[in-house]
Amino acid sequence: HELFVFSFLFLFLIKPHFLLAFPSLHLFLFLWLIFGSGFVKSPLSETKLTGDTFELSCDVVGNPTPEIQWWYSEINRIDSFRQLWDGARKRRVTISTAYGLNAVSVLGVTRLTLDDAGTYECRASNDPRRNDLHQNPATTWIRAQATVTVLQKPSITASEHTTLPMDGHSPPFTLQCNLTSSHSAHVESYWMKNGEEIPDTRSPNRNTEYRLIKPRGDDAGVYMCVYTFEMSPAANATIEVKSAPEITGHKRSENKNEGQRAVLYCKSVGYPHPIWTWRKFDNGIYRDIDNSSGRFFISSRDNYTELHIVNLDISLDPGEYQCNATNMIGSRDEKSVLRVRSHLAPLWPLLGVLAEIIILVIIIVVYEKRKKPEDLQDGDTV
Ligand SMILES: *[C@@H]1O[C@H](CO)[C@@H](O)[C@H](O)[C@H]1NC(C)=O
Ligand SMILES: *[C@@H]1O[C@H](CO)[C@@H](O)[C@H](O)[C@H]1NC(C)=O
Ligand SMILES: *[C@@H]1O[C@H](CO)[C@@H](O)[C@H](O)[C@H]1NC(C)=O
Ligand SMILES: *[C@@H]1O[C@H](CO)[C@@H](O)[C@H](O)[C@H]1NC(C)=O
Ligand SMILES: *[C@@H]1O[C@H](CO)[C@@H](O)[C@H](O)[C@H]1NC(C)=O
Repeated sequence: HELFVFSFLFLFLIKPHFLLAFPSLHLFLFLWLIFGSGFVKSPLSETKLTGDTFELSCDVVGNPTPEIQWWYSEINRIDSFRQLWDGARKRRVTISTAYGLNAVSVLGVTRLTLDDAGTYECRASNDPRRNDLHQNPATTWIRAQATVTVLQKPSITASEHTTLPMDGHSPPFTLQCNLTSSHSAHVESYWMKNGEEIPDTRSPNRNTEYRLIKPRGDDAGVYMCVYTFEMSPAANATIEVKSAPEITGHKRSENKNEGQRAVLYCKSVGYPHPIWTWRKFDNGIYRDIDNSSGRFFISSRDNYTELHIVNLDISLDPGEYQCNATNMIGSRDEKSVLRVRSHLAPLWPLLGVLAEIIILVIIIVVYEKRKKPEDLQDGDTV
């Protein structure tokens, strides 16, 4: 410990800013001084809904590296702690611990039930007598507690998942959510689409709706109504609106010189995101691209795909390419025309200009030669 006090003072002298910036560092260094080990991070109390998951983490420093254990007691029964094991509660409990310079442990409990509520305690010790049954654990282990509260998940009834018709002419429809029961009064509700809040949808009502007036391909996606509560986590319900992909942008044509790189792309709306394929028009039908030369590269992400053709070949590559977007509802495609010019192509305009200049010069010379001497004299007298 003397050595440690010394290094603590040393740290303080050398790096006062560093210590000031991390007040919690003071705390654990202090704890370390007293106990020989200390918490860098202790578990935080949480409120969760049934069916959800919680994680508590605990990070302890000490030399030698301390051992970490997790203990549990029901609320109001602090005297009856029981140790938790990885795989407990029908495998809903996971404990993963890594011992290095610090000891770091994460306790996870999934598919929460009301019975999971209680006090969870992280215990750490590097005392050699820590597992001696005759010792009082209170003197050999340092402990940090968190209270986990579990509330019954509010119930929300929501509209069924829907699929937009293929022809793109859908009657208007309304997505609905009704909050049918909750542990406490809610604050408000709002709608999200594809993980982002839809503006101007906040309302204080238990029953909320979102109208799609002219549903189109880009209205497809994952919708969610979210209810917020004052003292507990938000609850939500999901409604999927599916549609066939619709290609909303593509490169109609690409003109490049041989040896250069061509890039064709297509992008789509619709949900779920499509699987993309590229084909080439060849002898009257679209066929899979022949990549024996290894010059074709396809990169597709969700609603976007790109076809790169490197080192263009003037005899093989020109033609019509087709991107095809297919999901479980349907499939669409678009075509792009690739033209490849010869290396010499950029020279043609230059040669044209040169030819023009030469012809002009010839005309001028011929004209000058044909001029009569009288004309020249006339010019001199003016
Ligand atoms: C929500 O409540 C309204 C009014 O009671 C009802 O007409 C509607 O069908 C309900 N919607 C759902 C999805 O339960
Ligand atoms: C929706 O609810 C789930 C399950 O309770 C939760 O994991 C998720 O974070 C919630 N999403 C939002 C945006 O509230
Ligand atoms: C494609 O998806 C991304 C996110 O996945 C989104 O930001 C973008 O607006 C979408 N583009 C189109 C054309 O729908
Ligand atoms: C074409 O071949 C190259 C080289 O073997 C490979 O890296 C690339 O992924 C292939 N492209 C396609 C579309 O299969
Ligand atoms: C697009 O791909 C899908 C699935 O591979 C196929 O069923 C469909 O016929 C293709 N469409 C065209 C126009 O090639």
